[in-house]
Amino acid sequence: MYQILHKEKLGPDIYMYRFRAPDVARNRKPGQFVIVRIAENGERIPITITDVDTDEGSITLIVQAVGKTTLQMAQMKEGDFIPTITGPLGEPTRIEKVGRVLCVGGGIGIAPLFPVAEGMKDIGNHVTSILGARSSNLLILIERMREVSHELIVTTDDGTEGEKGLVTDVIRELVGKGKVYDLCIAMGPPIMMKFVCVLTKELNIPTIVSLNPIMVDGTGMCGCCRVTVGDEIKFACVDGPEFDGHKVDFDELMARLAIYKAEEKEALEYYYSKAGCRLDSTLEGGSR
Ligand code: FES
Repeated sequence: MYQILHKEKLGPDIYMYRFRAPDVARNRKPGQFVIVRIAENGERIPITITDVDTDEGSITLIVQAVGKTTLQMAQMKEGDFIPTITGPLGEPTRIEKVGRVLCVGGGIGIAPLFPVAEGMKDIGNHVTSILGARSSNLLILIERMREVSHELIVTTDDGTEGEKGLVTDVIRELVGKGKVYDLCIAMGPPIMMKFVCVLTKELNIPTIVSLNPIMVDGTGMCGCCRVTVGDEIKFACVDGPEFDGHKVDFDELMARLAIYKAEEKEALEYYYSKAGCRLDSTLEGGSR
């Protein structure tokens, strides 16, 4: 059993959990994920590990409640236990000295980006981070990202924090000013990663993306995370979660993500009726 040592709300429907999981903490490398189950026979949720504390034997996970299980998880309290944390899983990020690295994070994607930016800076790369969200209340880990970046730029769609606009506007602006980047790492909603990749391909910046949002069992057996990368079929959980963004078929990926929308909505509505709680985003004044 794995205990919640600390829980904190970072924004509407966004929660940070610190779990006691010493073996995972000891073995995790940046970019790796765990599979969490909050109940026996419950749904499996793949979550990239944001941070670890090997002295405490803990791992930090940031989860956005978007469906039944993640909302159920949001109702848990410090001191509660969950039955399953499996990992670390997935190929670690290749942390190499490449020169100037652009780290682009969108919304909840800033959580998996943090350990990668940290690793890239620690090894001697120059790290520029661009963090974006629809609105200021959906931005997370800004100060932690500032610590692991030489330069940090924040954007929001509605202009409530940082520059008004999209992360792609900032990339274009920086390159327009003559900045040169050797690698871009983009993590966030698939639509954001798609348009970052379209732009970085045009600008000739090699780009890595993280595809863990499409996983289910996380062990290579269910086939749900199948993705086309160039001419090859890959499984995000065992071959990734990181891939060459210029080769990923994002349109296929986004279509797959939408397949179970109706069932997910039905499960959530059922949970609403049973538990008497709702996602913040569905309440009056919700942000999404
Ligand atoms: S998540 Fe099931 S095969 Fe990858």
